[in-house]
Amino acid sequence: MQHLEILRRSTYVHIAVDEESKVVGFITSISDGVLSAYIPLLEVRADARGRGIGSQLVRLMLDRLSDLYMVDLTCDPDTLGFYEHLGMRAATGASLRRPNALSIKANGGVASDSDGNHPIDDAP
Ligand SMILES: CC(C)(COP(=O)(O)OP(=O)(O)OC[C@H]1O[C@@H](n2cnc3c(N)ncnc32)[C@H](O)[C@@H]1OP(=O)(O)O)[C@@H](O)C(=O)NCCC(=O)NCCS
Repeated sequence: MQHLEILRRSTYVHIAVDEESKVVGFITSISDGVLSAYIPLLEVRADARGRGIGSQLVRLMLDRLSDLYMVDLTCDPDTLGFYEHLGMRAATGASLRRPNALSIKANGGVASDSDGNHPIDDAP
């Protein structure tokens, strides 16, 4: 349920589907449409990884955002190589995470599913 809300509210979304039209991956971005964009989420289903789907999703999104000066995302150190492979470069940054906001939104029907899973647990 919250997955759909996140996809609906993102500026751009690319979704990868298999031969049976089941979703195997997605990427989202949020942009001001003038100068900058941020890529909050990229995920490929575990059983579909290693087949180039993640790379293709990132390429499609970077192409969609190709007229913008800055495209940023945050990632764990062990995922940096994946993005460098696609032409991105390491940068310094700052971030703030509010775990409490997840439960508040879950109660409001936005941020968690019936299993209590949050897509942003896998955020870049
Ligand atoms: C990261 C992720 C999106 C990659 O998707 P994928 O479809 O498996 O990636 P690809 O098949 O396109 O891999 C392309 C290349 O990147 C490499 N790669 C994949 N995951 C990597 C990682 N975590 N770190 C470094 N390199 C990675 C692959 O080995 C491959 O290299 P090759 O072309 O030399 O063989 C996927 O592993 C995933 O969904 N992980 C869980 C969620 C996550 O971590 N999202 C990103 C948060 S920053």
